[in-house]
Amino acid sequence: MTRSLFDEPLTHYTAPESIAPGAFLLRGFALDQAEALLQAVQQIIAVAPLRHLLTPGGHVMSVAMSNCGALGWVSDRTGYRYSSADPLSGQPWPSMPACFADLATRAAAEAGYEGFAPDACLINRYEPGARMSLHQDRDESDPGAPIVSVSLGLPAVFLFGGLQRSDHPARWRMVHADVAVWGGASRLAFHGVSPLADGDHPRAGRQRINLTFRRAG
Ligand code: SIN
Ligand code: FE2
Repeated sequence: MTRSLFDEPLTHYTAPESIAPGAFLLRGFALDQAEALLQAVQQIIAVAPLRHLLTPGGHVMSVAMSNCGALGWVSDRTGYRYSSADPLSGQPWPSMPACFADLATRAAAEAGYEGFAPDACLINRYEPGARMSLHQDRDESDPGAPIVSVSLGLPAVFLFGGLQRSDHPARWRMVHADVAVWGGASRLAFHGVSPLADGDHPRAGRQRINLTFRRAG
């Protein structure tokens, strides 16, 4: 794990850090937008509330989720899929704020993926103890587009492995305003998040918010 001595975000972004072929950490990349992103999340979840989804196997996910954009990722007993409507309301997901799409496009370009135009943003809310087990993001139709993942609030340990579930994942500490981008040879890499340690973030409180941008449709 890098940056073990530092719990605070960088004061400014410097350069992408390679973590695997085609995969990068952009530390502090979202610092200038973080406050606006958190405010926009509040507006989105007022319309499309965070909820704990069921896995196809019938387990309740510890991470609470919502979405914005044309498509939203959902899970229930019938499987994982993208849906243009929020199953709770039957209404379209809230539109993706311009500041979200702009940040995702710029982060992707910084990592070498020009022209990324996300149509889905999954909002993940981790409270202390919440985790995400190792998985691949493979429900998207365009494997040429990367994934852009923005961390806000409490620090987390991001696990980034290889193309086999059995590949031992590296552990990366992600703090407020850090961004991860993975595509190319790492597009289908297994990844996850260790159980969130308790804490109180000055901007976000006792939680971590993760925004994951995808080209889903
Ligand atoms: C995800 O894989 O969808 C979320 C990853 C994260 O929370 O950092
Ligand atoms: Fe994922």
